[in-house]
Amino acid sequence: MSILITGARGHIARSLIQQCLAAGTPVRAAGRNPDAARLPAGVRAVRCDLADPATFRAALEGITKIFLYAEPRGLDAFATSAAAAGVEHVVLLSALSADPGSADEISRMHGAAERAVAGSGLAWTFLRPGGFATNCLQWAPSVRAEGVVLDPFPDLRSAPVHEADIASVALRALTEPGHEGARYVLTGPEAISRRRQAELIGQAVRRPVRVAVQDLEEYRAELIAWTSPEVAEAVIRESAASADRPALLTDTVEKVTGEPARTFGQWARDHAPDFT
Ligand SMILES: NC(=O)c1ccc[n+]([C@@H]2O[C@H](COP(=O)([O-])OP(=O)(O)OC[C@H]3O[C@@H](n4cnc5c(N)ncnc54)[C@H](OP(=O)(O)O)[C@@H]3O)[C@@H](O)[C@H]2O)c1
Repeated sequence: MSILITGARGHIARSLIQQCLAAGTPVRAAGRNPDAARLPAGVRAVRCDLADPATFRAALEGITKIFLYAEPRGLDAFATSAAAAGVEHVVLLSALSADPGSADEISRMHGAAERAVAGSGLAWTFLRPGGFATNCLQWAPSVRAEGVVLDPFPDLRSAPVHEADIASVALRALTEPGHEGARYVLTGPEAISRRRQAELIGQAVRRPVRVAVQDLEEYRAELIAWTSPEVAEAVIRESAASADRPALLTDTVEKVTGEPARTFGQWARDHAPDFT
């Protein structure tokens, strides 16, 4: 069995590659620019752009399982090529809100990706995480420079999920039987405000981190620089709506891996070098 891990530059893919190596599971890493992915020694890298079918054949040769990012352009063609190449099972990094009929860009994009994978005839497992703890890395420059977290919604509570937990669930789904057809909703173990997240980052870097309420227009401009205008609007709409409802918590990470989900405090300690 050899696993193709797409999105090699991403946090989840990098954690999954490390976990596969530790478990002795053969992997091939794929990305649009694999040379930039800073892969561990001994991991073979191939160029695979999910929006460019010319890159599929070499990436898929000899592969039986795939960890797949939900790149919306080209997933139908990729899933069809994977099925033709003899791939047996795809673990798709989707999202909590996946819904192909949604008016929301993020939900629709992930819903379309799930539909493409399910329609290919391949066995599948959908990982549906809520917000990633790594989203807080956007605070890193201001924490490093001034010890400040700028955020327009400091009291919004959520249960950010550690990339290593998403990767651990992916590893189980890719290497054990019994995960086919599962839709795993993944969250962190506790609902905490962004104010508390900033405090925990401060504890991890051993210096106070204060929170300043960010102007919404400034936040919007930053998000647009980081993603598309549609996704930025969806993120803002979702954040505003979340203020009035309790954060969703699941115990899926523990059920699948046998280990409790990592706390945000743990994430902050793991990423202290990013904030110092
Ligand atoms: N951030 C959240 O809170 C959250 C929550 C739920 C779901 N998600 C979903 O999780 C996924 C990753 O999010 P992220 O925040 O980790 O983003 P990220 O760090 O920017 O990673 C995006 C990854 O997607 C890969 N990618 C993008 N376009 C590609 C293409 N055409 N072909 C191949 N790979 C491509 C990139 O791979 P290379 O550059 O190496 O090619 C990169 O590794 C997204 O689908 C996102 O919507 C995010």
